[in-house]
Amino acid sequence: MTLFQRQHAIAVITLDHPPVNSLSHALRQRIVEAVAAAQADAQIKGIVLVGNDKAFSAGADVTEMGTPKQLALPILPEVLARLESCSKPVVAAIAGVALGGGLEVALSCHARVALEGARVGLPEISLGLIPGSGGTQRLPRLVGVATGLDMILSGQPRSARQLADSGLFERVVAVDLVDAACAVALQLADAAALPRTRDRALDADLVRSHVEAARAKLNARQRLQPAYAAVLDAVAATALPFDQGLAKERELFLGLVPSRQARALRYQFKVEREAVKLPASIQGQSRPVRTIAVIGAGTMGTGIAISAIDAGLRVVLLEQDAAALERGRQRVADHYNGRADAGKIKHAVAEASLARLQPTLEWSDLALADLVIEAVFEDLAVKQEVFRKVDAHARPGAVLATNTSYLDIDAVAAVVSRPQDLLGLHFFSPANVMKLLEVVRGAQTSADVLATGMELGRTLKKLPVLCGNAFGFIGNRIYNAYRRHCEFMLEDGAWPEDVDRALTGMGFAMGPFAVADLSGLDIAWRMRKAQAATRDPRERYVAILDQLCEQGRLGRKAGAGYYSYTDGKQSAASDETVRAIIEQASAARGIVRQPLTPEQIQRRALLAMVNEAALLLAEGVAQRASDIDVVLVQGYGFPRWEGGPVFWAQQQDRAQLEQDIKGLATVVGHGFRQGDLALLLG
Ligand code: NAI
Repeated sequence: MTLFQRQHAIAVITLDHPPVNSLSHALRQRIVEAVAAAQADAQIKGIVLVGNDKAFSAGADVTEMGTPKQLALPILPEVLARLESCSKPVVAAIAGVALGGGLEVALSCHARVALEGARVGLPEISLGLIPGSGGTQRLPRLVGVATGLDMILSGQPRSARQLADSGLFERVVAVDLVDAACAVALQLADAAALPRTRDRALDADLVRSHVEAARAKLNARQRLQPAYAAVLDAVAATALPFDQGLAKERELFLGLVPSRQARALRYQFKVEREAVKLPASIQGQSRPVRTIAVIGAGTMGTGIAISAIDAGLRVVLLEQDAAALERGRQRVADHYNGRADAGKIKHAVAEASLARLQPTLEWSDLALADLVIEAVFEDLAVKQEVFRKVDAHARPGAVLATNTSYLDIDAVAAVVSRPQDLLGLHFFSPANVMKLLEVVRGAQTSADVLATGMELGRTLKKLPVLCGNAFGFIGNRIYNAYRRHCEFMLEDGAWPEDVDRALTGMGFAMGPFAVADLSGLDIAWRMRKAQAATRDPRERYVAILDQLCEQGRLGRKAGAGYYSYTDGKQSAASDETVRAIIEQASAARGIVRQPLTPEQIQRRALLAMVNEAALLLAEGVAQRASDIDVVLVQGYGFPRWEGGPVFWAQQQDRAQLEQDIKGLATVVGHGFRQGDLALLLG
């Protein structure tokens, strides 16, 4: 194989590891060989490194991670040293993406030329790491400390167009990338000395002030993840001589690789990819979906519509009356116009998006849809009535879906003539933002229909997770167990703010009582009343929420719930009224209140989730233990860098965990079911 193509006096080295030129051992070796050959060739004055249209290089090869190939020579830092010390100019020609190690390759070249639409970034932070091959040292030297820090801390790629004046690129071009890169290489060949990023010195005071400003701005969740502080320490080292900075970066990087947080993030990365696949036991062909119909243009219906429109689908939006339809249509229009006004999308894109929306009051329009999804009120009779009409109008072969949060899918399917075509598609609010999608399998749902649900999830750029049809599916079932246990802790001695603070203190986006106030306590109250008749009186039932509701404390919207709200701002602690209700609840159960430490609260909350996870697996509601972690992280604010409840359980001392799970029996009392931990831990 030829190592490079000659373009006059320039050696053009094409990275050839499709699809995205991940930096496998073979590719690293080839780069080194090709550069050596070009260097030895007297006819050659300069070198251009180029990838394909999709990628210059997307970074490390995940398939080699943890294998001997990952560390086989030449390792990436060595490749970069060869590029940087090459006596002939090396120019990176970037189309598509240059991410992580891929961008680090480009940063080690003597110059970079990019197509306008190319995207570059250092996403290591999302895996709990920092760039480990000079990214933290070279990027700030080229683009400045502020931009460099911003890019490394956010992990978000930016377009070459955005970075055109940043100092990163010698040229940003619309066409003829390789020609432009060759021209730059020739120019450099005639220069007195090659520009090397390592030779640029940064002002030490400036570095310090930017780093400290960024440190002060880290939020609580970032402070819980050691990679953020490590980025700052590494960038602070750009004030040192280059090689010392590089050594510091390497040391920080290697320290992070085995950290709990980085392991959890790698785990999430892996299990998310598994979750979206149907198990081998379900072999189905997905049906094509180009047009969907959404019934109900409320909060969820409009969110689902936006999500589908964004994915290029056509959406028929059906409502029961003209006013509700117009409100829904307006909400979708406001979304797109707002984004266009804010400069996030072009006005033409907003118009084209809205053109894919067809609001209607005619049930016969359902015949246009390949998939019909219902998002009307959460009431079985209402949903059944809707599905009778859907059955009459949807075309044969159309997939029928319900967005119910709790109702029995089979009871919904019972009213249609084609129950095999019906499934649950449980979106999360806001449906155009949240990535989780629970794909719920009814008793008669066919494999093709499940495959279509999973495929639709991927089309909408969601994370579809298969669930069995049981009350609350995966997410709400675990969340209910968790929330119930948090209520026990109120009776046992904690205040709502103790529980919330302990859980946000370990990284939950919000505590359970702040969440309850935000969503409104009346939803749970209504559900509790509906269940009252069938509830076993021996069960431990915490009546605090009911009493709050009886006093009109329905949550944030009422100005009071577990907390009180002034101008929408939550009080730091619960007030006397709430404390009196809680104290009475403790007294009624004969409990002498004992304060709980944050660690006790966290552990009890997690134990409740873990036990429920084991039950869900035993019942077949979840296919894989790891699916539960994906659901909790994506839909319920569980800290991603802790991996999820199952991952957490796997990190614990097994004997202690088993004992603590057994101990839940005394807390929960009558009706406690103990899950089999072996299902989670192997
Ligand atoms: P919503 O009250 O905002 O919207 C419901 C809409 O359905 C209303 O616009 C109503 O006019 C319309 N509707 C009612 N009956 C209808 C009928 N027979 N034909 C046509 N349209 C009809 O309710 P939301 O919050 O959007 O919830 C809808 C469904 O989504 C419920 O089943 C709910 O459990 C579920 N869900 C809600 C989530 C949330 O956070 N709000 C999250 C996940 C699921």
